[in-house]
Amino acid sequence: MSDTDSGAPVLSMRGVYKAFGENTVLRGVDLDVHRHQVVVLIGASGSGKSTLLKTVNLLEQIDDGQIFLRGQDISDPRVDVDATRARIGVVFQQFNLFPHLTVLDNVTLANRRVHGMPKDEAERIAVELLGRIGLADKLRSYPDRLSGGQQQRVAIVRAIASSPELLLLDEITSALDPQLVGEVLDLVAGLKSTGSTMVMATHEMSFARRAADLVVFLKNGVLVEQGPPEQVFDDPEHPETREFLARVHAVG
Ligand SMILES: Nc1ncnc2c1ncn2[C@@H]1O[C@H](COP(=O)(O)OP(=O)(O)OP(=O)(O)O)[C@@H](O)[C@H]1O
Ligand SMILES: [Mg+2]
Repeated sequence: MSDTDSGAPVLSMRGVYKAFGENTVLRGVDLDVHRHQVVVLIGASGSGKSTLLKTVNLLEQIDDGQIFLRGQDISDPRVDVDATRARIGVVFQQFNLFPHLTVLDNVTLANRRVHGMPKDEAERIAVELLGRIGLADKLRSYPDRLSGGQQQRVAIVRAIASSPELLLLDEITSALDPQLVGEVLDLVAGLKSTGSTMVMATHEMSFARRAADLVVFLKNGVLVEQGPPEQVFDDPEHPETREFLARVHAVG
């Protein structure tokens, strides 16, 4: 990485469009995510949150616009997809861990296979991270022996073990029993203090309020409003944001 682009946002989306057939899902999304920022995407089901995250991880190709990772245009069709993905940590709603690998092997895999790290060093990092989240005694366990909350915490640790430039989290608590949600969100909130840069789609508004630096409201693929949580939640500019929040609060 050259010095000239070190001041660039970690992630920059410019005029991003994405359609599935006739269904236009992202309509000119502009978004900047700066270093150490926690950005939370909110919006109704189908508004395009997951699709947005997938375009960043190159799981979906965009139809128009550009996406930059630290100044590099990763939406350029000539980009090295594997090398780009190796710079980004991802955690989804469920099925994150390899069931046939122990917790330790799950967490060390990318560092060893993708980043060519020696086994000792990869294991040292994994043990340290798992210890920090109270799972040091589960190193040799297989995922099916862990609770859903423990599995998601291991998945998060796995995603950060290789110190990615950007972390993408998509509804990581929505498959969990309510009593397990807190431990996973606490871990994510803790990452904020270690300086991770992340974009997280969530329906957990209280978490968004507590942990986000920037809240982004999407409706039908349009980025309607973005701002600090106090602004978006307490004094939203757009009637559509107000409407969405009123509906969420009515059910929550
Ligand atoms: N692979 C796909 N093929 C066709 N349509 C898709 C595909 N993925 C998503 N869509 C459509 O794109 C729209 C946005 O979906 P997306 O999953 O991004 O929404 P979301 O905001 O993440 O919703 P949720 O809160 O339910 O997770 C929806 O209309 C969905 O049906
Ligand atoms: Mg989604």
